[in-house]
Amino acid sequence: MRIFRAYYKPRHGPSYSHKGTGAGDIPVNEKIPGGISGNKKNGQRTITSDQADRQVPGFFRAGRELLWTQLFFYLRSDIGITGGGGKVTMKKEIVVGVTGASGAVYARRLLEVLCKDAKVHIIVSDVAAKIAAHEGVSFEGFRAEYHPNDKLFASIASGSHKLDGMVVIPCSSKTLAAIANGYADNLIARTADVCLKEHRKCILVTREMPLSRIHLKNMLAAEEAGATIMPASPGFYHKPKKIDDLVDMVVARVLDHLEIEHTLSQRWSGSDA
Ligand SMILES: Cc1cc2nc3c(=O)[nH]c(=O)nc-3n(C[C@H](O)[C@H](O)[C@H](O)COP(=O)(O)O)c2cc1C
Repeated sequence: MRIFRAYYKPRHGPSYSHKGTGAGDIPVNEKIPGGISGNKKNGQRTITSDQADRQVPGFFRAGRELLWTQLFFYLRSDIGITGGGGKVTMKKEIVVGVTGASGAVYARRLLEVLCKDAKVHIIVSDVAAKIAAHEGVSFEGFRAEYHPNDKLFASIASGSHKLDGMVVIPCSSKTLAAIANGYADNLIARTADVCLKEHRKCILVTREMPLSRIHLKNMLAAEEAGATIMPASPGFYHKPKKIDDLVDMVVARVLDHLEIEHTLSQRWSGSDA
């Protein structure tokens, strides 16, 4: 009986010092049978609340810890619980910046995958919105937080806001120049600037050809500052049959670098050639 009363005591509560004689008392400072270690006081052996807790059978304690953990994660909306076995996964928080380079379809495909599994922030530059409309791509309707590019007061503009990383896709040469030189006068450039200073992932899916010496120098400067330069340059070894296959190949590599599981494109498994 006493064991069960001890079981219901608060985990991190105060260390009780009264005698456990009355109904409802918590028996943490009482005469206990020999064989259990405790502090000797006035000829009696006493135990602390933690010691009392250790008298609870291990499987009860384990079950209690699991219940509390599940309740905690259930109450946190940004954390998911997967599977019936109590496997807990943290949702990644990723910023996607879309700038005015051709290839809005890359951003759209990335968002389709990311918004299912991650907490996503979307920023679309003014020119990107026009180019996307021209290319027949829309960024509306995603389960994500949308930010205007001129909103420098957004949460993600501060390093104190925890993030897993950012992708600029496609990344124009102008935004590449801004990021490479720390010229953070809009939210996309500022959030990238923050990712670099906080040593978080900052992936720039550049799209331009040919590349001038200025572009190349800016790519090198951004890479040296910690960015990952991933030109939108799909391979052909997986024998693409349609444009979507090419798009998926680029987006798959981006997801790999974000460490997000996907099944977008087949992985190279070697060849006898
Ligand atoms: C139709 C169109 C396509 C463009 N494509 C590219 C491109 O592929 N790469 C690039 O670096 N700039 C491209 N630009 C130029 C950029 O949009 C321009 O430099 C703009 O200032 C970028 O601004 P942002 O980075 O703030 O979106 C394009 C412009 C237009 C109108």
